[in-house]
Amino acid sequence: MKFFIDTANLAHIREANELGILDGVTTNPSLMAKEGIKGEENILKHYADICDIVDGDVSAEVLSTDFSSMIEEGKKLAAIHKNIVVKVPMTKDGIKAIKWFTDNGIRTNCTLIFSAGQAILAAKAGAAYVSPFIGRIDDSSWDGIQLIEQISNIYAIQGYKTEILAASIRNALHIVRSAEAGADICTCPLDSILGLLKHPLTDIGLAKFIEDAKKM
Ligand code: G3P
Repeated sequence: MKFFIDTANLAHIREANELGILDGVTTNPSLMAKEGIKGEENILKHYADICDIVDGDVSAEVLSTDFSSMIEEGKKLAAIHKNIVVKVPMTKDGIKAIKWFTDNGIRTNCTLIFSAGQAILAAKAGAAYVSPFIGRIDDSSWDGIQLIEQISNIYAIQGYKTEILAASIRNALHIVRSAEAGADICTCPLDSILGLLKHPLTDIGLAKFIEDAKKM
């Protein structure tokens, strides 16, 4: 399973990249707004800065909701760098746009996936990635991991090449369970990635080794 970081924060992206395990980045309008990125010029520059840090796919989301504006916006985003993947919402115009981008050699990530039916439609339109929102599904008292499993089975049966990008990850357990359920990629906040490092027995064991090393 590949690891993406889900943030627009450059310091977090650098920190995850320095671990040597980072395969890409996903952003969304909420994450960009959180970093105070405003205006077309600054938005495009911010994506270019991210591409300079990470050697991997960077999802850049369109802000428009109608087909023609999505196409114009997506073309500009894709022109920033070869690693930009245009992130498109799961709507009727979004599906039309994904098909258009696919036919024109621009890779897409279909976002806001909450059902297997949506994942089938996105794959059919040629999306490179689908992003099921695990945490938000769990928040609504459904099972986000079960959706990953279901999409993974359907894609295997049907031979779809679209990769499953588990999103809306809230903790390290979500990452482990996404891997078990067949996600191709997990996109996580820095805290959840660092959460994988933690186990109290590791800390206790290391403290003992350090203490015993003094007797050597
Ligand atoms: O990038 C989309 C997704 O990861 C959002 O996560 O935590 O806002 O549900 P969250």
